[in-house]
Amino acid sequence: MSSRFVRACLRQSVDRTPVWFLRQAGRYMPEYMAVRKHHSLLEICRTPDIAAEVTITAAERLGVDAAIIFADLLLPFTPMGLDFEFVANEGPCVHSPIRTVEQARALRTDRTDELRYVSQAIEKVAAHFAGPRSDGDTLGIIGFCGARFTLASYMIEGGSSRNYIETKKLMYASAPQDGERTTENRELDSAWSILMDKLLTVLTEYAAQQVEAGADVIQVFDSWVGALSPSDYRDYALAPTTKLIRNIQALGVPVIYFGVETASLLPIMRETGCDVLGLDWRTPLDQAWAGLNYRVAVQGNLDPITLFAPPDVLEARVKEVLAAAAGRPGHIFNLGHGIVPNTPVDAVLQVVRQIKAT
Ligand code: CP3
Repeated sequence: MSSRFVRACLRQSVDRTPVWFLRQAGRYMPEYMAVRKHHSLLEICRTPDIAAEVTITAAERLGVDAAIIFADLLLPFTPMGLDFEFVANEGPCVHSPIRTVEQARALRTDRTDELRYVSQAIEKVAAHFAGPRSDGDTLGIIGFCGARFTLASYMIEGGSSRNYIETKKLMYASAPQDGERTTENRELDSAWSILMDKLLTVLTEYAAQQVEAGADVIQVFDSWVGALSPSDYRDYALAPTTKLIRNIQALGVPVIYFGVETASLLPIMRETGCDVLGLDWRTPLDQAWAGLNYRVAVQGNLDPITLFAPPDVLEARVKEVLAAAAGRPGHIFNLGHGIVPNTPVDAVLQVVRQIKAT
């Protein structure tokens, strides 16, 4: 099996730059909205047939080189005993956010089996894309989970946040991690360290289910880690993230590590040992990659709002990203963050055509 997407994750040579899009199966796509009319987001996620169908439809409609399983970052909260819902136009809402040691202690880590619907959907997607496509390339299948900081932020804030005050309060109240210390000898009674430990257990098992089901690569979403200063990232996020990424790599797959507004964090994020780093659009790709000494593959980094620009502007910006990557092995074309609702599908298709023509 040869997949240019997987090869690029490993910084091996490819016939052309692989391309896929963050949130490629989202609300901008009429096919997704048609399914969404009859099912809630969580119903789609929890029904393997529908989740697989939505995943496959988006990948085939766009003609991209990888399919990301249709799921959500917050799904592991349910077996952990944390109730949440998606409120229309507001995003996720956790009913009783974690603020105390007692609440953290009550979280369960023994029911991760209940997340099997995600790996069942992956099995269906993997079976569908098992053979080579018309160009001889095998489509890559991406499983994913949240990173510990970003998931903890949802658990603690109860939803999206601007300043992460409650998250940082619990984080600062815990003992900093210097990378040498293991979770065993951290302060046992801090809510933050209990959360970090439990998330590691659940996420490692969840990722293992996905890999076993056929995920070729796991993307770790640390979407909101850009809220941390470099010192705080080093003291509180680096060791927990490194451990999670190592656990996933031990399953035998490359890991894409993704965050936004991370320009000043990228060199430290690389220390996690991830195979691929996701780049947002606020730093030119060549500058970001050079700053990493090209010692990691990179994914990105078109501004998703460029998809609303006239075709010639969009074309110029895509060209710019490709020129910045300069054909080096280890570049996966993507956006710097997810496709937003109302994005014209034609613009996404234009980008795919352009990448394929180079
Ligand atoms: O094809 C795909 O990439 C879609 C699969 C996917 C979803 N969520 C489905 C979804 C993925 C990869 C995610 C991950 C996810 N979920 C992240 C990390 C990605 C990122 O953007 O950084 C985060 C932060 C979440 C949590 C989450 N889920 C939020 C904040 C929201 C609301 C945001 C919004 O735009 O309303 C969701 C809802 C959600 N998850 C939607 C989709 C398609 C939109 C809501 C819907 O369809 O009803």
